[in-house]
Amino acid sequence: MSRPRFITLEGGEGAGKSTQARALASRLIELGHRVTLTREPGGSPGAESIRTLLVNGETSRWTPLAETLLHFAAREDHLTHTIRPALARGEWVICDRFIDSTFAYQGAAQGLDTEIITALSKMVIRGDMPSLTLVLDLPVATGLARADQRGGENRYERMGTKFHETLRKSFLAIANSAPERCVIIDATQTADEVARQIWHSVTSRLPT
Ligand code: TMP
Repeated sequence: MSRPRFITLEGGEGAGKSTQARALASRLIELGHRVTLTREPGGSPGAESIRTLLVNGETSRWTPLAETLLHFAAREDHLTHTIRPALARGEWVICDRFIDSTFAYQGAAQGLDTEIITALSKMVIRGDMPSLTLVLDLPVATGLARADQRGGENRYERMGTKFHETLRKSFLAIANSAPERCVIIDATQTADEVARQIWHSVTSRLPT
């Protein structure tokens, strides 16, 4: 059976994931592929409602466990209503953030026991892991400055430099522990160069 064409983009704030996800989707569409471009938290009406609770308000608004349960509630809805149906229709699915963000943000940076995240993943994701994950890496100061320029600061962007340093290390550790799924991309390069490397990773790992 061919590998599902499920690609996720991960990384800290201001790494350019959303821009690159859109560029990748456009390129695939130009080649005649059908693509579902989506994001987490969000990507379905129910999950977008939950996103509002997660990205707005005080940084200390949720306990790490409550926050994790909200992310998984959103993910369950998103998988059910958006991701699984699109994969079943034979589409490519490109998702801006997925489970690695939960391990990095709620596990490493917010200190939730990763066994809880693993157990919830088994229940919610079951076998539907991405075939390819692109981890966009850049220094924290650069990422936060870019995110700041973009405006519309979300709750996580206010969590402090130490929090974001932990995130960066965690994303790199996750990528290094799963080289069959993950590729690290240097996001300090120009957007065109990042897009070129992403395209190379996609075409060398998944049949286009
Ligand atoms: P974004 O639109 O910049 O990706 O914002 C979503 C925020 O949600 C981002 O700051 C990371 C955070 N997040 C988590 O903390 N855990 C998760 O599992 C996911 C998917 C996102």
